[in-house]
Amino acid sequence: MRQEKARVFRNKELAPSCYRIGFKCNIQYSYAKPGQFIMLRFGDRINPLLRRPFSIHRLITKDGDFEGLEVLYKVVGKCTKKLSMCVEGDIIDIIGPLGNSFITSDNYNNVFIVAGGVGVAPMLFLASYLQKNTDISKCTVFIGSRSKHDLLCKDDFLRLGMKVFITTEDGSAGRKGFVTDILETSIKKNHPDIIYGCGPTAMLKPLALISEMYSIPCRVSIETIMACGIGACLGCAVESKKIPEKYLHACLDGPVFDAKAIKL
Ligand SMILES: Cc1cc2nc3c(=O)[nH]c(=O)nc-3n(C[C@H](O)[C@H](O)[C@H](O)COP(=O)(O)OP(=O)(O)OC[C@H]3O[C@@H](n4cnc5c(N)ncnc54)[C@H](O)[C@@H]3O)c2cc1C
Ligand code: FES
Repeated sequence: MRQEKARVFRNKELAPSCYRIGFKCNIQYSYAKPGQFIMLRFGDRINPLLRRPFSIHRLITKDGDFEGLEVLYKVVGKCTKKLSMCVEGDIIDIIGPLGNSFITSDNYNNVFIVAGGVGVAPMLFLASYLQKNTDISKCTVFIGSRSKHDLLCKDDFLRLGMKVFITTEDGSAGRKGFVTDILETSIKKNHPDIIYGCGPTAMLKPLALISEMYSIPCRVSIETIMACGIGACLGCAVESKKIPEKYLHACLDGPVFDAKAIKL
């Protein structure tokens, strides 16, 4: 883990209020694993005062050399608004890579990746990591969004050679409904070795239930409020499902958890 000033090299709006920002950073990040995150703030340290957590979305290389990383973010408040106004050459202050990562294995041949909304952010990193580093023969991606306008990263997953299923709440792209609606049918046809998920709690809860019902291991990346990202403030507590009254911390024990281990 290191703190550094990172120089922005691009910042592009991909969908309404959703941006992908790239910044140059130390080569140490080339060893980052999917699921890990950074804590980010601006140079003035005043507004906003606290750092904010963002998943590592992609590692960027140029002519084979590591160049930096990208974060995919949705504008929801002060930090993300300010981030959306960053231009090439601006400096942001980052700490990372932080947290644990998705467990991958060469024994997994058939993998389902389930992402809701901006929850695709860490999943694209995971998908490209699986493609480069493991022997998976099948990887199917399920992306859920409100409408076709909010749909993120579909073409990026397709470029990785993955099969992609889309659902939208208004039916403007793919199947109408929630991403978890089509999951059971796909599981029955094509039982995966593992399911990886990231998205709103309203998506992770049914995902955890479905995976338990079909006895499929399921790992989810959760997004709690985080003030420090390094285990100092205890603000990111998540209740354990296995041990009563025990709390885990999303920044140190997570953000990736076995879906059976935590109360979602
Ligand atoms: C490990 C981790 C990885 C994350 N990765 C990403 C990512 O890749 N892309 C992305 O867009 N966001 C991600 N988030 C969420 C992101 O940290 C928040 O959206 C961000 O902190 C908002 O900052 P802000 O100052 O713009 O909004 P604020 O002014 O802090 O908050 C605006 C509103 O959003 C709510 N809010 C803030 N943080 C969260 C949260 N974590 N969960 C639910 N509601 C929240 C606040 O309660 C408030 O209502 C991640 C969170 C975690 C814990
Ligand atoms: S965010 Fe401070 S302890 Fe986890």
